[in-house]
Amino acid sequence: MNSDTVKNLFICQPGFEDLLGPELQNHGFQLLESRRGWVLTEGPDEDAPLCFAHLQLKGGKTVTAESINALAGQLLDLFLEQIKGKKLPDNWPLIFRFADGEKGLGQRVKSVEKEFRARLKKRMARLARTASADLPRGCGNVEGFFIFFTDFNSAYATSKLWNGGQRRMADDPAAPSRSYLKTEEAFVVMGREPVAGETVVDLGAAPGGWSYSAAKRGASVVGIDNGPMKGGALDHPLIEHRRDDAFKFMPASGETYDWLFCDLVEDPHHVMRLIEEWFENRHCRHFVINLKFGRADANSLLRKVLDPDGRLARHCSQLSVRHLFHDRDEFTLTGSIREA
Ligand SMILES: C[S@@+](CC[C@H](N)C(=O)[O-])C[C@H]1O[C@@H](n2cnc3c(N)ncnc32)[C@H](O)[C@@H]1O
Repeated sequence: MNSDTVKNLFICQPGFEDLLGPELQNHGFQLLESRRGWVLTEGPDEDAPLCFAHLQLKGGKTVTAESINALAGQLLDLFLEQIKGKKLPDNWPLIFRFADGEKGLGQRVKSVEKEFRARLKKRMARLARTASADLPRGCGNVEGFFIFFTDFNSAYATSKLWNGGQRRMADDPAAPSRSYLKTEEAFVVMGREPVAGETVVDLGAAPGGWSYSAAKRGASVVGIDNGPMKGGALDHPLIEHRRDDAFKFMPASGETYDWLFCDLVEDPHHVMRLIEEWFENRHCRHFVINLKFGRADANSLLRKVLDPDGRLARHCSQLSVRHLFHDRDEFTLTGSIREA
């Protein structure tokens, strides 16, 4: 490994490592090992705009031992080495995670974590007291200590992490669909959400999860879908449901909505052409858009979306694409349109 490359461990939604691998290769990372939910790489020590990665554990080391005590001891040594000269803030994240599907691994990690915390408390009581078991909300680089167990005897650990912002969201009993969770999660990634008085168009709105998510914040929504609204979106005073074809609905020239939501189960290229028209004519200021890649090549679609000269990105002042915790065979675009 030369001085310009580091080892990184990337964590994705279990089952999507075969999409994360090629995405990482496109960004110049060399794949070293990959199993369900994670990929270990060697590659450039720089940030990449990743979609399928939820977390990037940066420039860490692998610790290997057979006993709980030895693992906890080695992890503590690594922690002390990595934080030397650094001042961790209150609520610094101390995060233990483990590979999906390894029977009994969760219990093992719990025991190592308990032993690690006990040892840390003995050595540095204040640091032990101020640790948080949660990651901060939103996306970006975070300092703390992050440990990922790839199997019973091996853990990859580091003090530096990039967080894509994906996270499990809490359900709302009035939300008419599980899809509601996607837009709630998208707002966390974006660090922005609709506010009271803003206007939203929701293409492919039914049964109304996304519309409900905006309306519960006080935004006025026009939901376009031939299907019926349900639950909290049905007859909501801030949701106007239009039974129409999303491909035929286009605001008048000069008309701008604060938000465009789009969650159409349609060919993603077809949806991109529709969205381009919205962007080009500045009919929205911000957006949350799901593209369903289904059996299409997700990485080639991703490259098209992120191409700075392509249909969408060239109109955006900000654009992120993430495979959300609540996404299935789809990814979610969030961002804002460049001012004229
Ligand atoms: C995944 S669902 C949307 C779920 C919604 N976001 C929610 O939170 O409840 C996709 C919707 O797209 C709608 N749809 C597909 N093609 C459409 C079109 N051309 N015009 C309007 N709606 C369409 C379907 O009727 C379906 O209700």
